[in-house]
Amino acid sequence: MNISPKARHFDVVIIGAGASGLMCAAVAGARGRRVLVLDHANKVGKKILMSGGGRCNFTNRHVGPDNYLCHNPHFVKSALSRYTPADFIALVERHRIAYHERSHGQLFCDHSAKDILRMLLDECRAGGVRIETRSPVSDLRIGEPHQLFCPQGPVSCESLVIATGGCSIPTLGATDFGMALARSLGMTVHPPRPALVPLTLSGRTLERVRDLSGIALEARVTVADHSFRENLLFTHRGLSGPAVLQASSYWEPGLPVEIDLLPELDLAAHLQRLRRERPKMALKTWLGQHLTRRVAQRWCECWVEDKPLEQLTTGDMDAVEAACKRWTVWPSGTEGYRTAEVTVGGVDTEALSSKTMACRDQPGLYFIGEVMDVTGHLGGYNFQWAWSSGHAAGQCV
Ligand code: FDA
Repeated sequence: MNISPKARHFDVVIIGAGASGLMCAAVAGARGRRVLVLDHANKVGKKILMSGGGRCNFTNRHVGPDNYLCHNPHFVKSALSRYTPADFIALVERHRIAYHERSHGQLFCDHSAKDILRMLLDECRAGGVRIETRSPVSDLRIGEPHQLFCPQGPVSCESLVIATGGCSIPTLGATDFGMALARSLGMTVHPPRPALVPLTLSGRTLERVRDLSGIALEARVTVADHSFRENLLFTHRGLSGPAVLQASSYWEPGLPVEIDLLPELDLAAHLQRLRRERPKMALKTWLGQHLTRRVAQRWCECWVEDKPLEQLTTGDMDAVEAACKRWTVWPSGTEGYRTAEVTVGGVDTEALSSKTMACRDQPGLYFIGEVMDVTGHLGGYNFQWAWSSGHAAGQCV
């Protein structure tokens, strides 16, 4: 295709005005590059605004490769070490955004996620970045230069950055644009699936726990050797809460989920002692002190027999151990992209430079953020990846 004489030319075009795209644009703009950001949605940064219950858990003080799922676990090291949580915190402080730390090193805005979006847009403005919303891209030709068509007309550019994110929450503008483009270029894309998502139960298990909906307990939830100790929440469709959301990223259909509802207790030793000290106490009463009265009641109806502790046989103790320390469920599925916070899978990192996020085989083409096969745990890790990968690309586009 010949370049249209009417085409606007930019040094850098970024498709996707979310977390990673705006960070990349700000960094490239600050270097004096002429940058255009295109987004098909009517507003930029919708996920930032929705995040952290409106307060945006924008990073985590303790970020490392172990906090990410990626087929090449070493890939994230370079970008995360060159743009760290401390770098992002310094930016937040420069913009005088008040923030606080919650459990597990998670940092949130004191006031509103709007502060983070405003900061990114201020940085883009300072770098002369042009942002166009309601701008779906058509007729994309990868080449030197890249050429594309958007509602404002033809555009050409030296560097094209794909920052279109994952598939989660289509109503916020999520599409599989980036993954489809990668596939069309012959790149490997790991099959995407919803992650950080509630798990659904069905049949008898759901019938037994459905009316416990709303009850939260501290638990250790394990899927495929990955364990998370945080809160578990019963829902009317199954299980949620931070421990379950974390484990869901490792869950695939057919895998069991093992739940320790008494993670702080060595149950056998504890029950032996209690049998001596409080022999007449009912098992249900004791369970109620740890699991809430309603859960204890249900567990005694469905999985263990309520009797005075002194009457518990070895078989009864094994049953209590199995029901409370190794409660195993086989989820029927997840709540899907409708409620998933992120997407596991995406563009294979082997085809990309870990320093610049550039494609090895496609000059001037970059993938950043969640569209890549990099998925963070719950707790600010996904935004940190967006900042770090966006910064890495922004420095060399
Ligand atoms: P992001 O999704 O931010 O941006 C992609 C952009 O591309 C969007 O603006 C979209 O409109 C645009 N786009 C998509 N397809 C397009 C197309 N075909 N053409 C043009 N534009 C297109 N993480 C975290 O660390 N802390 C948190 O508190 C939260 N909270 C949270 C809450 C909720 C409800 C969700 C859904 C997600 C989170 N996350 C999170 C995850 C976090 O929001 C996510 O990982 C980052 O926003 C990913 O940044 P990206 O830039 O990759 O994509």
